[in-house]
Amino acid sequence: MAQSQRKILVTSALPYANGSIHLGHMLEHIQTDIWVRFQKLRGNLCTAVCADDAHGTAIMIKADQNGITPEELIEGVRQEHMADFKDFGIGYDNYYSTHSPENREFSEAIYKACRDNGKISVRSITQAYDPEKEMFLADRFIKGTCPKCKAEDQYGDNCEVCSATYTPMEMINPRSVYSGATPVEKESEHYFFKLPEYQAFLQKWTRSGTLQDQVANKLAEWLDSELHEWDISRDAPYFGFEIPDAPGKYFYVWLDAPIGYMASFKNLCDRTEGLEFGDYWNKDSDAELYHFIGKDIINFHALFWPAMLDCAGYRTPTAVNAHGYVTVDGEKMSKSRGTFIKARTYLNHLDPQYLRYYFAAKLNSRVDDIDLSLGDFVQRVNSDVVGKVVNIASRTASFINKKFDGQLQAAPAQEAMIQEFIDAGDLIADLYETREYGKAMREIMRLADIANTYIADEEPWVKAKSEDTLPQVQEICTVSLNLFAILATYLKPVMPDMVADAEGFLNKELTWDNRVELLFGKTVNKFKALMPRIEAAQIDAMIEEGKEEAAKETPAAESTPAEETELSKEPIAAEINFDDFAKVDMRIAKIAKAEHVEKANKLLKLTLDLGGETRTVFSGIKSAYKPEDLEGKLTIMVANLAPRKMKFGLSEGMVLAAGPGGEEIYLLEPHDGAKPGQRVM
Ligand code: 2FM
Ligand code: ZN
Repeated sequence: MAQSQRKILVTSALPYANGSIHLGHMLEHIQTDIWVRFQKLRGNLCTAVCADDAHGTAIMIKADQNGITPEELIEGVRQEHMADFKDFGIGYDNYYSTHSPENREFSEAIYKACRDNGKISVRSITQAYDPEKEMFLADRFIKGTCPKCKAEDQYGDNCEVCSATYTPMEMINPRSVYSGATPVEKESEHYFFKLPEYQAFLQKWTRSGTLQDQVANKLAEWLDSELHEWDISRDAPYFGFEIPDAPGKYFYVWLDAPIGYMASFKNLCDRTEGLEFGDYWNKDSDAELYHFIGKDIINFHALFWPAMLDCAGYRTPTAVNAHGYVTVDGEKMSKSRGTFIKARTYLNHLDPQYLRYYFAAKLNSRVDDIDLSLGDFVQRVNSDVVGKVVNIASRTASFINKKFDGQLQAAPAQEAMIQEFIDAGDLIADLYETREYGKAMREIMRLADIANTYIADEEPWVKAKSEDTLPQVQEICTVSLNLFAILATYLKPVMPDMVADAEGFLNKELTWDNRVELLFGKTVNKFKALMPRIEAAQIDAMIEEGKEEAAKETPAAESTPAEETELSKEPIAAEINFDDFAKVDMRIAKIAKAEHVEKANKLLKLTLDLGGETRTVFSGIKSAYKPEDLEGKLTIMVANLAPRKMKFGLSEGMVLAAGPGGEEIYLLEPHDGAKPGQRVM
């Protein structure tokens, strides 16, 4: 039954305009894009907007370090982000920037409405100040020694070693990460949003079906205790919008970031006939509004944002959908392991649809982290997409092309099985709607198994050998291709390009509703292979490039801290106990041979003598050593590291080295008296 058309506006969190898109971002944009494509496929009027989050101290500093203006920096990054999303098949209707006239207008208007409603307060606060750079410093932009455990190089708010919390001025030897200067304390006037006045509103709003249970429960812990006013201003110099009637004061980046959703949509409305801003944002709007975000930014979307919207007379979101982080092979993404994979690095080696499918297969409606397990990724995509779904078409299409000139049988057959496939669409639609993509993929694969069993039982390749059974071949292939068309419809939100090719072959544009219009008596086009298998070597090459990328990064770029509130996405080495340490078998090794590796930018191939046993190790020390200088030297290797297949061969261990990178990498050299093969204690 045709449903009435829903009006839906969807957003993903706006990526910061100071760094590349990586697979952590891609999880969210893929999750959003699948949902949006599903809604469009169902015939709903669904609009998806995004933008770059272009303001804040980090962007200002990075532009300064690069010797360009912030405007130049953010526009360059925006172009890069747009290309990454496009090439991943992410189809935003508009991709804008928070540094836009529309966003300035909305930010000012919302602020003024809040102020006029008495929800803004102004008072002086004391903060750390960098006297050299002449700017205030948020805690993350100060480093020093922990006053409690004396660990060095800790951030200005807490110690990663002993978990102590403190103010920057309580640290030993605090310094600005920008200038190295010792911060001083300085007062300045700040503007605050009176969040406590929204306590009752938020207690109700967060429990009204707008949030996942996990999220609502977490927020309840806060909402049941005292809320604090939210500091929405920052002092000059700051890259952002100046607050009306407050010279030298700027909106904190997190004030205008979510307003960027409205600005991007408004920018689209202004050039799209029939799309009315007010229909989606007015208080009485009957449109639906969804924000897809990561779990680290829930407070901004589920507390400040709805309160501000309500205060300024706008509707609040229908729901905020949070997801977890991406881990790779069970661990945080790591630059040194090459698993901090940029979107572009992935695209250099692999079809985006593989990852779209894999993330879909793992996603659910909860806030759980999603593990990209590389071995499982290869196995799952090859077995499900290539081995199950594509296989249905590739096992049957050639008979239709060759024996029947593309003509499908006219009389319906196997109607019960086909009906089962059609009926499953209701369940699959519910699963997409509720973001239970993993369950949807399992249901699609269950159906694919039924189709493959049917083909295997009917053996069209045997029946094709005899004229007598040739009509049966046409029937089997017609049924199979109809089943394939239905499954392709269900997979269209996840793998749009593969399904576009399937549509070309089937001569049909697939929509959710027209899956009931079967292809009996129709003609199909020549079948071309839809999707090759993933080869493990592609993964190895991607990881290798990830490592090379990481090694290339300049220390200056790395020292730019993330925006104040962003949780560090860098891996922090986890504490291990003595038993873990005792498992590491370190041995003295003699470098018997050192060679260049053709086409490798970073690697040298080392042949290591462990006192009888020989190992091959690829080591990223080419920038620091000439092979001939290494031969005959002693070093230390981790001898019980599982062998790793790399692009250039098998690496059977690791040598130990230290240093910041480039020419400054130093292989650890044991004392002359040490003998190859001896254990390092
Ligand atoms: O955490 C982040 O990456 C932010 N740039 C997200 C902003 S989302 C929205 F509010 F703009
Ligand atoms: Zn400490």
